[in-house]
Amino acid sequence: KVLVVDFGAQYAQLIARRVREANVYSEIVSHRLSVEEMLAQKPAAIILSGGPSSVYADDAPSVDPAIFDAGVPVLGICYGFQAMAQALGGTVAKTGQREYGRTSLSIAEGGCLLGSMPNTLNVWMSHGDSVSKAPKGFKVLARTAGAPVAAFEDRERGLAGVQWHPEVNHTQWGQQVIEHFLFNIAKLTPDWTPENMVTESINAIRTQVGDKHVLCALSGGVDSAVAAALVQQAIGSQLTCVFVDHGLLREGEVEQVRNDFVAATGVDLVFADERERFLTALAGVSDPEEKRKIIGREFIRTFEEKAREIAGERGIDFLVQGTLYPDVVESGGGEGTANIKSHHNVGGLPDDLQFTLIEPLRQMFKDEVRAVGEQLGLPEAMVWRHPFPGPGLGIRIVGEITEDRLAILRQADAIAREELANAKLERDIWQFPVVLLADVRSVGVQGDGRTYGHPIVLRPVVSDDAMTADWARLPYELLEKISSRITNECPEVNRVALDITSKPPGTIEWE
Ligand code: XMP
Repeated sequence: KVLVVDFGAQYAQLIARRVREANVYSEIVSHRLSVEEMLAQKPAAIILSGGPSSVYADDAPSVDPAIFDAGVPVLGICYGFQAMAQALGGTVAKTGQREYGRTSLSIAEGGCLLGSMPNTLNVWMSHGDSVSKAPKGFKVLARTAGAPVAAFEDRERGLAGVQWHPEVNHTQWGQQVIEHFLFNIAKLTPDWTPENMVTESINAIRTQVGDKHVLCALSGGVDSAVAAALVQQAIGSQLTCVFVDHGLLREGEVEQVRNDFVAATGVDLVFADERERFLTALAGVSDPEEKRKIIGREFIRTFEEKAREIAGERGIDFLVQGTLYPDVVESGGGEGTANIKSHHNVGGLPDDLQFTLIEPLRQMFKDEVRAVGEQLGLPEAMVWRHPFPGPGLGIRIVGEITEDRLAILRQADAIAREELANAKLERDIWQFPVVLLADVRSVGVQGDGRTYGHPIVLRPVVSDDAMTADWARLPYELLEKISSRITNECPEVNRVALDITSKPPGTIEWE
């Protein structure tokens, strides 16, 4: 595996993903680990990530030069590049000048790292001081206006570095820099493929579970579906899945899980039709937080009831959680921390139901989860489903939730999704909430009569991680199609509005 040493900037995860995209397994470790601890993990290569803008910055962590003498290939990126230069006897000039954003790079001599690339490239920079002299034995490969030494390599020792960020999208030929390091310099084999991920996960699950019983709550989302499918492949009939229909799902989603998913995987599914229960509990409630609390509470209660029934029949030793690698990294990376956080997700289950968590996706990024889902033959609509909130359509009806209102929203949402799919733009956007303003009415004219109906709001967004988002610039023709179909086909809707707010200040969901 490749270790990506995190110096505290936001780039380490991106680097780890790029390495995985090259089909090489990578893990992120803190720069606080000693060189011995890093080497104990037997890395095939090490990448030092970006961090503070300069090795002279107040918060700059030190880099133990021993890391370069261990015979393990090392790529330094940005801060990692400067740290490598300094540790090996090069010069980092205290210019105090910043070079930030898109920068033109001139390649003097491609070498192993930049070979076969154009002579000038646009690359993404973010640094203060710069390397003015490469260490002995290194060949200088490229320069920019603000960085006389912007890349170097020492093929003999397997060491190389770049001042810019090859991992970001704005950098041209970035992925190739990473791949040239992995394959030409570190001589690794690209063997981290969806097939191997599946095989490794299945073996790990078998070892962990033995002949014990496993419970999994399906939500209809990608993560729980892929996690369940993996466990199913590993241990078959020892797994029971519970799927709670709270009546707040979108059109076709219940059938997708009950029919398509079961057909594709053969899982033993306990289906709980709890639509009445949720509608009754939500009657008269229009406050968003109140809705969320009620839905969460009823969900846990239902799940607990089902878990008890199943536990009575066959016992439960493990509970599946769809924790992903970014959650693990963000909660400190250590086993303990991540478990505390993910156990919280199922919080509310009674203490007398004892089980251990099993997290088959804890080493995967979202795109890898999708690749594994495809490898396992899950329905495409499920694998590529957009994120959908646990409280479902309940927080997309502004106002009280009733069966009639759910039916209107479900229909409008289905139209929007269908047209987005027809336009083949599903994979270009992050999410496409459709919201019913149930407490608002406006005057319209439909057919030859005056109407007094409700508006539907379209909220398509682009995002990388839902922390920030921008409104998606969908083509006018598509918006027109969706608008005319919704106003024609959905009773009581006489107006369609487009939400053009970024996040912040707006959130993605309306409630
Ligand atoms: P906001 O609206 O906060 O949403 O910008 C960010 C992301 O989180 C999803 N979301 C939820 N997911 N339970 C969930 O599982 C929830 O209660 C919930 N609320 C929001 C939202 O769809 C978006 O992807």
